[in-house]
Amino acid sequence: MSRLMATMDTEMTQGLSDDPEERRKTSLQMAPSYIRSLLDGTEDGDFLALDLGGTNFRVLLCKMCSGKCRSISRKYNLSPETRSGPAAGVFDHVAESIYMFLKEENMLDQKLPLGFSFSFPMEPLSVRRAVLTTWTKTFSCPDGVGEDVVDMLESAISRRGDIQVDVVVVLNDATGTLLAGSYVDHTCHIGAIMGTGSNMAYLEKLTNVKKWDQDFDEPSQVAIDVEWGAFGDNGSLDFLKTDFDRAIDAHSHHHGSFTFEKLFSGHYVGDLLRLILVHLTERGLMFQGRGLDKLGVWGSFKANYISDIEKDTDKNVTRTWRVLEALGLTCVASDDDVAILRYLASAVSIRAAQIVGACLSVVTRRSKRTRSTVAMDGSHYRYHPKLQHMISAWLAHYVPQTTVNNLTCSPSVLPLGSLNRDRAYRGIIVDHF
Ligand code: GLC
Repeated sequence: MSRLMATMDTEMTQGLSDDPEERRKTSLQMAPSYIRSLLDGTEDGDFLALDLGGTNFRVLLCKMCSGKCRSISRKYNLSPETRSGPAAGVFDHVAESIYMFLKEENMLDQKLPLGFSFSFPMEPLSVRRAVLTTWTKTFSCPDGVGEDVVDMLESAISRRGDIQVDVVVVLNDATGTLLAGSYVDHTCHIGAIMGTGSNMAYLEKLTNVKKWDQDFDEPSQVAIDVEWGAFGDNGSLDFLKTDFDRAIDAHSHHHGSFTFEKLFSGHYVGDLLRLILVHLTERGLMFQGRGLDKLGVWGSFKANYISDIEKDTDKNVTRTWRVLEALGLTCVASDDDVAILRYLASAVSIRAAQIVGACLSVVTRRSKRTRSTVAMDGSHYRYHPKLQHMISAWLAHYVPQTTVNNLTCSPSVLPLGSLNRDRAYRGIIVDHF
């Protein structure tokens, strides 16, 4: 963990450097987003939002008023064929979903400002222009890289000609999480995602962004999209990879890249645990050495099985048995197998929390703020019963409380997901699925 934290610290500095030689050494993109201030709760109005890049594509209508945001959202499934077909097909699907949403809400005659959360690495050119660097996760379109994301969206909208929107901002989901966090907690300056993929964004002082080539005017800060999903693509994290991690990489869509998120994010973590089970079963150490026909299939062990298993207690292991049932393993599984499976689910979760907690501690330490709040979101994080608690604990472990000018410096983790779902919590964000 010390080596991981030191590597991250060095690579963050290299990524912000004005020397191209230094920047070539790092695996962190450290992309300045052109977003120069966070929210303070005074932002009022009705906005549309798109959320593209994770397990689902969502369209949202956000009504922001006096520090409160009520939102209505709908999910639109993107088929694997669309995700691997031409980029125009993805954006046509997006435009069609906006049409369906507006029709459903009786809003086809309105032209609302739209914010586009596009969860892929981009090279921002302004707040509403950004060039796609690469497709990641489950997307593997043959084109679109090098193109302006907003251009692609606007072209799809004009191909239809039946909806009107005003795209005012395009941003990465980690940056969006940072902004949403700042809306409800003004000490929030870090946003992190643990979903299908993983990423982090934070607010950096312009003086530290040596590669910043714009004016150093006020506010003297900018949100940086770290793109930590690709951390280690230069080999710097090879030291912590296991054979299972190497097998995950070898089988993935984006072989040799997105090293960091392959260690724990939702798209990979189910297979990671599955590979360990296969390893033990092949040696006759679990499931009487049987059941490999199903267990051997990639994708058969879902990330949410880990969350389910982690919800069980020593006294009640019904969820773990249900997972075994879904895998067709109940007739070969013993109580010992249940115990081993629970131990392994907890081991991969602890590793995830420790890695994320350690890397978040690097950012909180660099910022030298007296108080840091991290806004967290993403499907894997939201539905896992223990990640929030464990990440907070590891973060506190790596940034022990220190006293700065008599103020207590304590990082904390803001569970953005549960904020969204819990009406009772300050009543700020309400999602209707
Ligand atoms: C992947 C994407 C990144 C995104 C993250 C979380 O790492 O490259 O842009 O923020 O997933 O969705």
